[in-house]
Amino acid sequence: MASVIVIGSGLAGLTAAVRATDAGHRVTLVTKAALDESNTKYAQGGIAAALFPDDSVEAHVLDTLRAGAGLCDEDAVQVLCTEGPARVRDLIRFGVDFDRDESGISRGLEAAHSRSRVLHSGGDATGAAIQAALVATIRQRAAANSLHSTTGIQILEHTMLIELSMSSGRVVGVRLLGPDAQVQSIRADAVILATGGAGTLFRHTTNPSVATGDGVAAAWRAGASVADLEFYQFHPTALAVAGSPLVSEAVRGEGAVLRNRRGERFMLDIPGEELAARDVVARAIAREMAEQDGEPVLLDATGLGRDLLESRFPTITAACRAVGLDWALDPIPVAPAAHYWMGGVVTDAWGRTTLPGLFAVGEVARTGAHGANRLASNSLLEAAVFADRAVRALSVSFEAASFDVSSPVEHVGEVAPLTARPVSGATARTAAAAEKIGATSTPAFSREALQHVMWDSAGVHRSGAGLERAAATLTAWSTGDLTDRADVRQLENRNLLDLARLAVAAALARTESRGAHHRADFPHTRTDLAWSRSWTAHRPSSM
Ligand code: SIN
Repeated sequence: MASVIVIGSGLAGLTAAVRATDAGHRVTLVTKAALDESNTKYAQGGIAAALFPDDSVEAHVLDTLRAGAGLCDEDAVQVLCTEGPARVRDLIRFGVDFDRDESGISRGLEAAHSRSRVLHSGGDATGAAIQAALVATIRQRAAANSLHSTTGIQILEHTMLIELSMSSGRVVGVRLLGPDAQVQSIRADAVILATGGAGTLFRHTTNPSVATGDGVAAAWRAGASVADLEFYQFHPTALAVAGSPLVSEAVRGEGAVLRNRRGERFMLDIPGEELAARDVVARAIAREMAEQDGEPVLLDATGLGRDLLESRFPTITAACRAVGLDWALDPIPVAPAAHYWMGGVVTDAWGRTTLPGLFAVGEVARTGAHGANRLASNSLLEAAVFADRAVRALSVSFEAASFDVSSPVEHVGEVAPLTARPVSGATARTAAAAEKIGATSTPAFSREALQHVMWDSAGVHRSGAGLERAAATLTAWSTGDLTDRADVRQLENRNLLDLARLAVAAALARTESRGAHHRADFPHTRTDLAWSRSWTAHRPSSM
């Protein structure tokens, strides 16, 4: 039996915690807010899996690779699509009640999928249904453990990860900030990061406020490799009101169309139209918005009829109502918003990072399954598949009495640190940018200002000049020296600034456009092989 700390309580963290208790490990589950808060909870469209007779793993693999724009790790994609159906069946066993129709489990179509394969629950409340089922499972486990305490699960809510604790190059535990502002250190045989993404980096995001990239930042500071940080996915259609509530792609899957302020359908000339890949639709919307002085475009779902809208999309219907919109009667204003980070902590197909003792699963991880642009509804699937694998991997290592993950992550393509890639001009420029961005000086930082800089310079449309300006600003900012009395917001701000610097350095280095990363000064995808590889960053020892 190993002691395992799981950080994060979305689908990835809850799955890892359940699996680890099933495997007989002693688990501490740490989460920054309440157990039922996470990015998972807000997922609408659903979970994609090749479960239906007219579908196949091969078709799902192909769609995923195509969306990933040449940057996917094919092994990770294969694992994702092959093991996905079994993990979806697990969710059903855990009590997730996927919607059904006369032919069985019903399924939606989303952008860039060649088949309808997206399972949903509660219409558009899939994430909430998954979160509720897994939280109930965890609570049952915790109650059972307190009766028969051979194994155990301890749940620490409102507790934030400060840093990973290291010993001889190995992760041996964590430092945490608890609800009573007390700092505590816990040791463990293994730490599983499941802290999600960092939508809070941007002015507009569909993510909840807890998504501040705490796991990516802590892993990077501890020396883990991170990669693909230039690839942030912007969801094309968030409701253009405060909080940017998501308007699922499944709405377009059901037939809703996009219009500009003159009522014209502006996607008609683009292959795939409203169901083109997510990055394509997001850029088309951003372009159209620029042409209409920043005014949001319109999502016209009026043709779907009130009954379908209210039964299939109750969450969106409620979000519209809350701001006085009736989408059965009128098109609704929508705009892109930061949604999902393809990049993160580099892992192999078993969730193992480059640091022994550290695993990363879900959005915090860069498994390579998403490449430069995630296929819709593959993120819940990735969380379930790789959380399960990480626990299997750590259990085997532990049983072998050599818990050290001796060869964690062999390669991610032929990559080199951002600061030390010797040959290409792009890399040299990255190194310079990373160094420049790494310095800190004038303390004029605010989270809101950072979100504006990131949105304006590292958002849907980017340019070298804009990224250079962002780099200079980020260089000048500091969140100050953190003491043991630092609060959650200060710790989050430090994480956000670290990650903004890394993401901008990565975006400057990639002098091409690919997937979600689009640069006006380099509008084309480079075809030579070197550009279809991920670049990793490590924390320079001087920082
Ligand atoms: C959506 O429902 O459009 C979001 C699904 C996803 O991000 O995969």
